[in-house]
Amino acid sequence: MKFQVAPVLSLWVDRLVEIDSTWNPRSWSQKLFEREFFNPVSRVRGVFHEELLIGYLIAHVVLDEAHIVSLGLHPDWRRFGAGTHLLTDYLRLSRLEGVRVITLDVRRSNLSAQALYQKLGFAPAGLRRHYYSDNGEDAITMRRELH
Ligand SMILES: CC(C)(COP(=O)(O)OP(=O)(O)OC[C@H]1O[C@@H](n2cnc3c(N)ncnc32)[C@H](O)[C@@H]1OP(=O)(O)O)[C@@H](O)C(=O)NCCC(=O)NCCS
Repeated sequence: MKFQVAPVLSLWVDRLVEIDSTWNPRSWSQKLFEREFFNPVSRVRGVFHEELLIGYLIAHVVLDEAHIVSLGLHPDWRRFGAGTHLLTDYLRLSRLEGVRVITLDVRRSNLSAQALYQKLGFAPAGLRRHYYSDNGEDAITMRRELH
């Protein structure tokens, strides 16, 4: 399966909302995604298959630190390696722009995402108790240093 990664343009906003709504209990509105396109600290990256957006990653970069605020694949496109492709590309991009550390928060119950992150060198770095407002679930903070 072939995937390409590129910045996501605002014309894809409906597709972003659609993908996000398939997995995110605190799903983002169109307006929230649109803000990301104009936020200078935001990086909005998409993974495409034959010009169809199938997943996205949004990160905020401040100085040499990046925080991945959202990442998701359309359910039809999971387990084909697209998540690995997207995140690997983001690690490359981060290095290019001088990022030294990347963090993210993941639900304690989300073992598939944790497995992806661990495969790509992220390690648990902390716990935020009752972080998620929808069900009070804890977040595991994961971290990866770039050399
Ligand atoms: C987590 C997610 C991004 C993974 O993307 P993906 O394209 O399916 O992942 P890949 O096919 O690249 O798989 C990479 C690794 O992730 C892990 N993984 C992915 N899906 C998994 C599953 N259902 N069960 C167990 N491990 C899984 C495996 O370690 C896998 O490596 P392997 O194929 O060598 O076993 C995707 O499942 C998703 O969008 N989930 C819903 C949104 C979400 O949870 N986002 C993270 C918020 S923090």
